Amino acid sequence: MLQDKIAQYTDKINAFVTEKADELEQFRIKYLGSKGIIKEIFDEFKSVSVEEKRSLGKVLNEFKQLAESKYLTLKESTENSEAKTENTQQDLTLPGEGFEIGSRHPLALVRREIVEIFAKLGFTVAEGPEIEDDWHNFSALNFPEEHPARDMQDTFFIKKGGEKGDIALRTHTSSVQVRMMEQGQPPFRAIMPGRVYRNEAISARAHCFFHQVEGLYVDENVSFADLKQTLFYFVQELYGEGTKVRFRPSYFPFTEPSAEMDISCTICKGAGCQFCKYSGWVEILGCGMVDPNVLENCGIDSKKYSGFAFGMGIERIANLKYVIKDLRLFSENDARFLKQFKSALI
Ligand code: PHE
Repeated sequence: MLQDKIAQYTDKINAFVTEKADELEQFRIKYLGSKGIIKEIFDEFKSVSVEEKRSLGKVLNEFKQLAESKYLTLKESTENSEAKTENTQQDLTLPGEGFEIGSRHPLALVRREIVEIFAKLGFTVAEGPEIEDDWHNFSALNFPEEHPARDMQDTFFIKKGGEKGDIALRTHTSSVQVRMMEQGQPPFRAIMPGRVYRNEAISARAHCFFHQVEGLYVDENVSFADLKQTLFYFVQELYGEGTKVRFRPSYFPFTEPSAEMDISCTICKGAGCQFCKYSGWVEILGCGMVDPNVLENCGIDSKKYSGFAFGMGIERIANLKYVIKDLRLFSENDARFLKQFKSALI
């Protein structure tokens, strides 16, 4: 009798198929559950005769294994088919999730613009090291031995003395002028963007590092008129037609004559505002004719060649372009600040 019962359920188990998790669960409860058929049959088995036990024991175990393996196989296949249905439920026509594109740093934007303007005039781009020796940063540029710019207050010295003299972080990009002129003969027509360092306390108006773009043009018969016209063109391109320029006499050891160039305030258009301290003018760069001593120091015949040079702070140009009054913003990496330049990304 018990044998018949087992045979009957064996057929049922063999015939059972499902792809549904809830039906399979019903199957598990029915056969393998604590009050299920297998438990019931095992209980009945206890009361059969010793003889019957011998023949039935094996059948019974096989029956139990059949139920268990059926359950496990079906479980695996239902799980697989459910995963498949989940996949097909995804709407592949939905737009993808875009990821955020970073923005360019305002200084990088301004530097690129400067490079592009000068490229139209035939200026190439040159670079030099940030760690410089005394010769390239000072001596070749005609700095007298006792010039205050060599003082510890302005310069970050790395090594005092040594074969090549003092080693320091460059205080200006004029050092690249020297490197360029030492390596060849005129004509030279290049701009040199780069980072420079000065030993200053960090505040809204000063930083211990900032960025400059140096310009150099050396050839036969280069005059101050060429300098003025070049810089005038640059300003019209950068700040728009009608921006006025003026030159004030100044002093740099490496240029003679030297000048500082102001432009009409880009914020109030010359009417006078807080930004230009109500003068209508803002200073943007230093410039001048390369001192013949500097040309000679670099192995260039100063009787045959003349040239002009200029240098400007990129932060200063960016200040005027974007009205950023605190220099510290440029180096703090505050995403809220940097994100505002997204629209300028091309
Ligand atoms: N090197 C000067 C500075 O850092 C700028 C400058 C460059 C002036 C070239 C004249 C000519 O202030």
